[in-house]
Amino acid sequence: VPQARLYHEKVIDHYERPRNVGSLDKNDINVGSGLVGAPACGDVMKLMIKVDDMGVISDVKFKTFGCGSAIASSSYMTERVRGLTLDEAGAIKNTEIAHELALPPVKLHCSMLAEDAIKAAIKDYRKKATQANGKVTPGH
Ligand code: FES
Ligand code: FES
Repeated sequence: VPQARLYHEKVIDHYERPRNVGSLDKNDINVGSGLVGAPACGDVMKLMIKVDDMGVISDVKFKTFGCGSAIASSSYMTERVRGLTLDEAGAIKNTEIAHELALPPVKLHCSMLAEDAIKAAIKDYRKKATQANGKVTPGH
């Protein structure tokens, strides 16, 4: 089935060629950083977002010290959130990632890391922006 083949290739691609690996300038006021760990295995994921004046995620990078599924989940998440508002990005569920990457049940917590990481990055960005401005700015 052509569709099944496409799906398979998409999954493998995220494992073999993770997108947006790296980091952003943590001193940039428009950058939020989320660092989370998985109690189940000790793996760690760091995800950084840059937010533009309209409250939209304009750039995103990750570093994951973890299994292949965690790396693929981060890679998928970075592509998924670029161009989204903070609220849209914060609403993404790990089940979507698990489904897209066809993760087995034992690997569900790997996708949970990606959900936790984007939420933590959004929270960090909002906290930084509030502290810096002392007022509500786009996306907060
Ligand atoms: Fe849909 Fe796993 S979340 S198949
Ligand atoms: Fe723990 Fe994947 S993040 S096994």
